[in-house]
Amino acid sequence: NRHLLSIDDLDPSDIQQIFTTAAEMHDVQKRQVKKLPALRGRTVINLFFEDSTRTRSSFEIAGKWLSADVINLSAKGSSASKGESLRDTVLTVTAMGIDGLVVRHAASGAAEQISRWIDVPVINAGDGTHEHPTQALLDGYTLTRRLGTLEGKHVAIVGDLTHSRVFRSNVKSLTKLGATVTAVAPPTLMPAGVGDWSKAAGFATAYDLDAVLPEADAVMMLRVQRERMSGGFFPTAREYTVGYGLTRDRLATLKPGTPILHPGPMNRGLEISADAADALDSVVLDQVSAGVAVRMSVLYHLLAGEETSA
Ligand code: CP
Repeated sequence: NRHLLSIDDLDPSDIQQIFTTAAEMHDVQKRQVKKLPALRGRTVINLFFEDSTRTRSSFEIAGKWLSADVINLSAKGSSASKGESLRDTVLTVTAMGIDGLVVRHAASGAAEQISRWIDVPVINAGDGTHEHPTQALLDGYTLTRRLGTLEGKHVAIVGDLTHSRVFRSNVKSLTKLGATVTAVAPPTLMPAGVGDWSKAAGFATAYDLDAVLPEADAVMMLRVQRERMSGGFFPTAREYTVGYGLTRDRLATLKPGTPILHPGPMNRGLEISADAADALDSVVLDQVSAGVAVRMSVLYHLLAGEETSA
């Protein structure tokens, strides 16, 4: 596939290949080798219609360490703020002669839509509540390095599942890697129709976090996304933390050595306590490091063989 729009684009062997290449990028990441020439002469635009710290900067670093020219364009400060349509914006930047487009947008399906308008590889850096495939790949890569194979491992994904593209991509990739997934949320943040979906996709659901944590081999806490909640947030923040926060007391119920993941940005004190975020078994910053290696790998696989448009 010449795009990465969804984890659906990848079979398990593709994911393993991305991980193998990501591991080979570590010499660059350790700065023992400054840059690889693989994408010299290629130009990539990071087109972000939603805010980002990790994804945009790690795509930029990844592209630059592969010797690509990387340009960042945010909706704020672009002509999108003057009313230019998404299609016109995308056709405009593509007409400049780019080789790849990394896109984040608030609308689910935006990356897929863009891939139908233009003729260069499109990488989905998060589209609404739909998918965030490179986040799931970096999460799977972090877990594989920490746990070895994920075959038969039990991953609990906890939090605001309704609004989480990270959850949707991770369910797909972790089950492709052989893990068992339990999705935990309060009823108000459990996606509608999850019963049929979980049966079809092969994951379990639970409302009782305390019953799940002692059985987990890894715990992935997700951010409460208030910016996507037009109807208000229920339960209250206090009730949420009591029922679903990874508090100091809950940390003690995990098996020793259980890795704690969070894609960031974290709401410290809401879904994750400082004790958990900063615990020895927190791999939050390992996820960030893995993000660069995995995005180098993705850019390499999608763009290294492409003809340049220059
Ligand atoms: N995890 C993640 O996508 O973070 P950013 O929104 O900072 O890119």
